[in-house]
Amino acid sequence: MRIYRANNYQELSRKAANIISAQVIIKPNCVLGLATGSSPIGTYKQLIEWYNKGDLDFSEVKTVNLDEYRGLGKESDQSYVYFMHHNLFDHINIKPENINIPDGKNPDAVAECARYDKVIEDVGGIDIQLLGIGRNGHIGFNEPGSAFEKNTHCVDLTESTIEANKRFFASIDEVPRQAYTMGIRSIMHAKQVLLIASGEDKAEAIYKSFWGPVTPEVPASVLQLHPNVVLVADDAALSLVK
Ligand code: F6R
Repeated sequence: MRIYRANNYQELSRKAANIISAQVIIKPNCVLGLATGSSPIGTYKQLIEWYNKGDLDFSEVKTVNLDEYRGLGKESDQSYVYFMHHNLFDHINIKPENINIPDGKNPDAVAECARYDKVIEDVGGIDIQLLGIGRNGHIGFNEPGSAFEKNTHCVDLTESTIEANKRFFASIDEVPRQAYTMGIRSIMHAKQVLLIASGEDKAEAIYKSFWGPVTPEVPASVLQLHPNVVLVADDAALSLVK
C-alpha cells in the first residue's frame, strides 16, 4: 500500500484527482469506480477544473458507482444519481450511456443486484475504484458484519451510518434505511483502489482498517489483501498512525 499524507482537504483532493487523471490519460477508455459522500467532492471539483482547461477527456470513460439508497431516484436531490450528476457528470463530456449507478427505484432487490453485477462484468471490471470510508469502516455500503458480502446486495444501513448521513437530509427520519451496494468482491477485483479520508472522525476507521486485523467487523480492512491500494489521507485522518 502507498500512503500519501496531505496537509488538508484541498491537497488531498488534488492528489486524488492527480491519480484519477493519470488513469484517464493513460487509458482513455478506462472504467472508473466512483463514490459519493463529502470526501470526493473536492476531487470531482478538481477533475472538472482540469477538464475545463482541456487537460482531460472523458468521452470514452465508463463509470460504475458504488451504491445508491433503495427507494431514491434522480428526482430526489439526496439520491446518489443526483449527487453524481450535480458534482461531476453534468460538468464533463462523459456519455450518458457510459454512466452506471445501481437503480434505487427498482423495488426488486434480487433483480437489481443481479443486474448490477452483470453491468460490472460487462464493462470489463474496474480500473481504479475511488472509495471513501465510513466511521465504522464501511466501504460502499458494506457495513460491519460477520462475513464479507461478495456481490452487489441490498443492505440495512447501521445506526452509525444513518446518524452520519442525516446531515444530508431534512431529518433523520428521512434517511433511507436500505441501500444497494457493490460487494467486496467487485471492489477487490478493481485493478487499483484509491481510498481518501479526511478529518479526525475517520482516524479510528483508518487505523483499524490498515493497521488492525483483517475482519468483516471492519469492512475496509479487507483492502490489506489488495495488491494495489493507494491511501490519500490528511493529517487528522492519520492522527492515530505513528
Ligand atoms: C458513498 C459510499 C460511502 C462513503 C462513506 C464516507 O458512495 O460508498 O461508503 O464513502 O460513507 O462518506 P463521507 O465521505 O461523506 O464521509
